[in-house]
Amino acid sequence: MKKIALTGIKPTGVPHIGNYLGAIKPALELSQKCEARYFIADYHALNSCKDPDEIRSMTLEIAAAWLACGLDPEQVLFYRQSDVPQTFELLTVLLAFTPKGLMNRAHAYKAMLKSNAEAGKDPDDGVNMGLYTYPVLMAADILLFDTDLVPVGNDQFQHVEMAADIAQSFNHIYQQQAFKLPQALAHDTVKTVVGLDGRKMSKSYGNIIPLFAPEKKLRKLVMKIVTNSQSVEEPKDPESCSVFALYKCFAEPAQVEELRAKYIAGGMGWGYAKQKLFEQMNAVLTPYRERYEELMDDPGYIQQVLREGSAKARELAAAKISQIRRIIGIE
Ligand code: TRP
Repeated sequence: MKKIALTGIKPTGVPHIGNYLGAIKPALELSQKCEARYFIADYHALNSCKDPDEIRSMTLEIAAAWLACGLDPEQVLFYRQSDVPQTFELLTVLLAFTPKGLMNRAHAYKAMLKSNAEAGKDPDDGVNMGLYTYPVLMAADILLFDTDLVPVGNDQFQHVEMAADIAQSFNHIYQQQAFKLPQALAHDTVKTVVGLDGRKMSKSYGNIIPLFAPEKKLRKLVMKIVTNSQSVEEPKDPESCSVFALYKCFAEPAQVEELRAKYIAGGMGWGYAKQKLFEQMNAVLTPYRERYEELMDDPGYIQQVLREGSAKARELAAAKISQIRRIIGIE
């Protein structure tokens, strides 16, 4: 029996290289080994985004991004959270098993309280109940599909642990294994992807390289990567260099060794290293970019893929929710 891997993708922000290397690529690799269920978490996005056009367009763009990167809807159950209403029924059930204190301990919520305190505002300023109960909706997403593994970034680990806590409490009260206990899965192959300024690539730092940037724009961004002021002649340290760090993410091992030797030998300028990086990134990303543009020209196809996936997801979810309703005495 294959393990079930599930993850949610929030439809916010244009996908960048960090998302691709840190989330999309490892999740697609995992889908070769597991029964994968990947979905667009549009109701999670609603907590922070109240712009309907943005929710609509980001849903399409994010779905197109995953399809362009190779998600095969025949192999991965690919759906929209909002198309699976059983999620929201399970959310209501799980709320009755979630101690308020557990939500108080959520890192994301605590960070908001802290930043409000620092700004001299009311602690709960800007905190809606959707944000407060965010981990319970996530638990519903996960537990509804008998998930074993949840591939996520470190910032989501606590939420997956909370889902397991809630499941355990439910199982304990009814003395049966109604829910599987999910486990977070770190993408250990990929360490932090550095951005243009050498810090972690992140939308909030404004240092991203968009995954589908057109060739000219890609080149421009690569040329903007911050390096030091060493002269061409000086030998350079590959390990502390952002250009080299990114090159390692895109080149074959033999190419990496070749460039490493050039760094160490000296006589290589930053312009050369950046050009090498640009060429390599462009070679890897061009097929994805082309496929992405094709998909975005045909939104009807993307919608159809999501509709078909969602119909299958609803069948699985309906069976699970009826099991849960029987257990709690509502059916
Ligand atoms: N909270 C996740 C994020 O911000 C998205 C998400 C929603 C999710 N539901 C999920 C991830 C269920 C894993 C499992 O990235």
